[in-house]
Amino acid sequence: MRLKDRVAIVTGGGVGIGKSIALAFAQEGAAIVVASRNISNLEKLVNQIKGKGNKATAIPTDISDEKQVQRMVAQTLDEYGQIDILVNNSGVAGATANVVDVTLDDWDKTLAVNLTGTMLCSREVLKSMIPRQSGNIINISSLAAKSGFIMRSPYCVSKWGVIGFTLTLAAEVGIYNIRVNSISPGLTQGPRIESVLRTKAEAKGIPYPEFYNSNVAKIALRRFVTPDEIAAAAVFLASDQSSGITGEVLNVNSGCMLNIW
Ligand SMILES: NC(=O)c1ccc[n+]([C@@H]2O[C@H](COP(=O)([O-])OP(=O)(O)OC[C@H]3O[C@@H](n4cnc5c(N)ncnc54)[C@H](OP(=O)(O)O)[C@@H]3O)[C@@H](O)[C@H]2O)c1
Repeated sequence: MRLKDRVAIVTGGGVGIGKSIALAFAQEGAAIVVASRNISNLEKLVNQIKGKGNKATAIPTDISDEKQVQRMVAQTLDEYGQIDILVNNSGVAGATANVVDVTLDDWDKTLAVNLTGTMLCSREVLKSMIPRQSGNIINISSLAAKSGFIMRSPYCVSKWGVIGFTLTLAAEVGIYNIRVNSISPGLTQGPRIESVLRTKAEAKGIPYPEFYNSNVAKIALRRFVTPDEIAAAAVFLASDQSSGITGEVLNVNSGCMLNIW
């Protein structure tokens, strides 16, 4: 059990990648707090984790709201007494549109969740991690933070920001024995990427199966990565197995940034 007796907050833990991370952490012995807006998804997951004999709590939270984040962290500390790990996983896909068509609202909302939410949750947990001289923060960035991506400017910019934030924070809090790393997932199996690809295919006037296959053909492993593969990397970064690693951005992407032609 690599995370025995640790307390972990996973934002957006009710579905998708966050759910896989929460389940993998629980399997490694951590008590889990999942935090996002949809309480019914969170409660389903909490019941699943508790059914296996582990501790888990659902706290409805909009991470772009400073007061809700403060309340979520305070409630975690009241219940568990400490926070060892924060996974900033919550994220929105944002608009799929060229910059010329992006509304200010699309732009602001995407940055508010993906970037400001990551900062707010990190800042709040650091207030108890720094006095304990111990902590571990993992920020989920994206393949989109490694390059420019047409029609994804708000998302792309928000995730580049997450990497800048990760490197800066790692440099600031290393002195307190707090590690900060990022996982950069590639195209990940699940409804979210399907919806993004469908919108892009439609905008380009290409049938979805053709567009999907053309994307897969550019990936070294010729498949999308799975949420469980991202969770396995999160367990590694959250555990003492990675004790010498901070300020790192780990690609988990089936080799989708490699030139294979
Ligand atoms: N899927 C991919 O291909 C892919 C690739 C690269 C990076 N990523 C990143 O990986 C992370 C997880 O992605 P996913 O595919 O699992 O996405 P997903 O299935 O769409 O889940 C997104 C999660 O974020 C939460 N969320 C959204 N707005 C929120 C808010 N204001 N406050 C709190 N939570 C909020 C959602 O919960 P509620 O609706 O309950 O609030 C949900 O749990 C994201 O940061 C995403 O950008 C995904």
